[in-house]
Amino acid sequence: MKIFCEKDYDAMSHRAAAVIAAQVVSKPDCVLGLATGSSPVGTYRELVKWYKQGDLSFKEVRSVNLDEYYGLAPDHDQSYRYFMQTNLFDHVDILPENTNVPDGLAKDPAAESERYERLVAGLGYADLQLLGMGRNGHIGFNEPCDHFPVITHLVNLAPSTIEANSRFFASAGDVPKQALSMGIGTIMRARKILVVVSGEEKADAVYQAVCGPVTPEAPASILQLHPDVTLVGDKEATSKLMEAQA
Ligand code: F6R
Repeated sequence: MKIFCEKDYDAMSHRAAAVIAAQVVSKPDCVLGLATGSSPVGTYRELVKWYKQGDLSFKEVRSVNLDEYYGLAPDHDQSYRYFMQTNLFDHVDILPENTNVPDGLAKDPAAESERYERLVAGLGYADLQLLGMGRNGHIGFNEPCDHFPVITHLVNLAPSTIEANSRFFASAGDVPKQALSMGIGTIMRARKILVVVSGEEKADAVYQAVCGPVTPEAPASILQLHPDVTLVGDKEATSKLMEAQA
C-alpha cells in the first residue's frame, strides 16, 4: 500500500485528484469507481478545475458509484446521485448515460442489487476505485460485521454511520436506515484503489485498516490484500499510523 500523509485537506485533495487525472489521461475510456461524502469533495473540485482549464476530459469515461441511500430519489438533495451531479458530473464533459449510481427508489432492492452488480461486471469492474472510509472502517457502506459481503446488496446502516451522516440531514431521524452498496468483492475487483481520508475521527480506522488484522470487523483492512492501493490522508487521519511508524 502506498501511503501519502498530506499537511491538510486541500493537499490531500490535490494529491488524490492527481491520481485520478493520471488514470483518465492514461486511459481516456476508463471506468472510474466513485465515492461520495465529505472526503472526496475537494478531490472533485480539483478535477473540475483541471477540466475547466482544458487539461482533462471525461468524454469517454464511464463511472460507477459505490452506493446510494435506499429510499431517496435521485433529485433529493442528500441522495448520492444528486451529490455526484452537483460536485462533478454537472461541471465536466462526462456523458450522462455513462454515469451509474444504484437506484435508491428501486421497488425490489435485491433485483436492483443484481442489476447493478451485472452492470459493474459488464463494464469490466473499475480501473480505479475511489473510496472514503467510515469512522468504523466501512468502505462503500459495507459495515463491520462477521463476514465480507461480496456483491452489491442492501445494507442496514450501522447506528454510528447514521449518527455520523446526520450532519447532512435536519436530524438523525431523517437519515435513511438502509443503502444499496457495492460489495467488498466488487470493490476488490478494481484494478487500482485510491482511498481519501481526513480528520482525526478517522485516525483509528486508518490505523486498523493498515496495521490491524484483516477482519470484516474492520472492513477496510481487506485493502491489505489488494495489490494496488494508494491511501492519501491528511495529518490528522494518518496521525496514529505515523505515531506507530515513528
Ligand atoms: C460514500 C461511501 C462512504 C463514505 C464514508 C466516509 O460513497 O461509500 O463509505 O466514503 O462514510 O464519509 P465522509 O467522507 O463523509 O467522512
